[in-house]
Amino acid sequence: MSVDLSHIKTNGIGVPQVEDTRICVVMVGLPARGKSLIAGKVVRYLAWLSIHAKTFNVGSYRRADTPSPTADFFSKGNKEGEKMRQAAAEAAVSDMLRWFRKDKGIVAVLDATNSSKARRRWVAERCREQDIHTIYVESKCDNEEIIMANILEVKTTSPDYKGQDPEAAALDFRNRIKNYENVYETIDEDEKDLTYVKLIDVGSQVIINQIQDYLQSRVVYYLMNLHIRPRSIWLSRHGESEFNLDGRIGGDALLSERGELYARKLPELVASSVKDGQKLTIWTSTLKRTIATARFLAASSKGYDKLEWKALDELDSGVCDGLTYQEIADQYPEDFKARDDDKYNYRYRGGESYRDVVIRLEPIIMELERSENIIIVTHQAVLRCIYAYYMNVPQEQSPWMEVPLHTLIKLTPRAYGTEEQRFKANIPAVSTFRSKGSTAKHQ
Ligand code: ATP
Ligand code: F6P
Repeated sequence: MSVDLSHIKTNGIGVPQVEDTRICVVMVGLPARGKSLIAGKVVRYLAWLSIHAKTFNVGSYRRADTPSPTADFFSKGNKEGEKMRQAAAEAAVSDMLRWFRKDKGIVAVLDATNSSKARRRWVAERCREQDIHTIYVESKCDNEEIIMANILEVKTTSPDYKGQDPEAAALDFRNRIKNYENVYETIDEDEKDLTYVKLIDVGSQVIINQIQDYLQSRVVYYLMNLHIRPRSIWLSRHGESEFNLDGRIGGDALLSERGELYARKLPELVASSVKDGQKLTIWTSTLKRTIATARFLAASSKGYDKLEWKALDELDSGVCDGLTYQEIADQYPEDFKARDDDKYNYRYRGGESYRDVVIRLEPIIMELERSENIIIVTHQAVLRCIYAYYMNVPQEQSPWMEVPLHTLIKLTPRAYGTEEQRFKANIPAVSTFRSKGSTAKHQ
């Protein structure tokens, strides 16, 4: 008997026509305007969507020759400094162009101040030679408080000031900014032929010019949604369900007795990890087990708003819905093996793959970026995908991550990375984790 496995792999990546375009995102702005943070987030977001992306940070090329420069190195009259900085920019751009050619890169982010019109033209010309589009992303911010906070948060601990007194480092960095201010040219009318986005005062105003294709508009839309107000995202699976007890996947079962205990305990668990006065919004899937898990939290005196999202429903296991892993291995052995061989791309017959789930979660990620404190009560596969976005987990690993039941995960985005805390409810539950090759019944 021949088995048609054509459904197993998805072809496209869900984001149309990206193969046709290659983009260099050129960051623009004075020091301490969040350029590296924005660059890092764009690359993480694109990588999560399977778009090959990489940051080229000119500062790290400069650091190879000049590890601890003082502000004077960046002053207009410093010929030696100017030469070294131009050399660093050239090395970064050459490596970037090589990466496009050799590694089949799709989106590169050139992370530097690119503060003069001449430098921006030069980057555009170098990219044009290889048929790469440039999109300029300027972060403009004159709010002294934000800039000082940025300096204290990330600059005094930068490798440029390793082992130095933080106060002296902050003062020197302010002088570095002044030196850049002497030559800085904001993007203006003269550059209206360029594709650009100007993010003014952390996105409170956004100016967009000449966006040309789908991928560019995705990047711009993402940038428009970013903010830096402090907040956290809480993730929890639903409480243990009747299906979890039986080792069955999918379905729309109710909570087990222990799952019910978790639902009752959740408000207390959340309260222990929420700061005074922090307002939360609860997101659940549309399935009974997440709604039941969140119901006491939603009814608590805190007055949390609640939203149900279809996009948060568990990975659709198609014809395997309601089966145990052992039953799948017996009834669909080729599928069972194919899933183990490439769990991220395997699509259940009549159902979904992890890749499909990521694509349907994209609006959720966008909404999360715009929002403040959110608690998401969802399912194993969906939680893995959301977690992978925040923690930058590669797609070969994310479908195999252990995400225990009855555990609350708190993620707090910081300047360079996401901080994670886990809170256990201490209510026993089966493990629904299945390692590669096993058909282990949940226990
Ligand atoms: P440099 O040119 O020295 O590399 P930079 O512009 O890359 O500086 P980052 O190192 O990214 O600056 O600064 C990170 C800080 O910027 C964080 O504290 C972050 O909260 C803040 N930040 C993020 N986005 C913005 C923005 N759009 N405007 C101003 N500050 C921002
Ligand atoms: O077993 C619980 C569950 O949420 C199932 O409904 C779902 O099919 C499965 O986990 C997803 O995990 P995996 O991708 O590891 O099979």
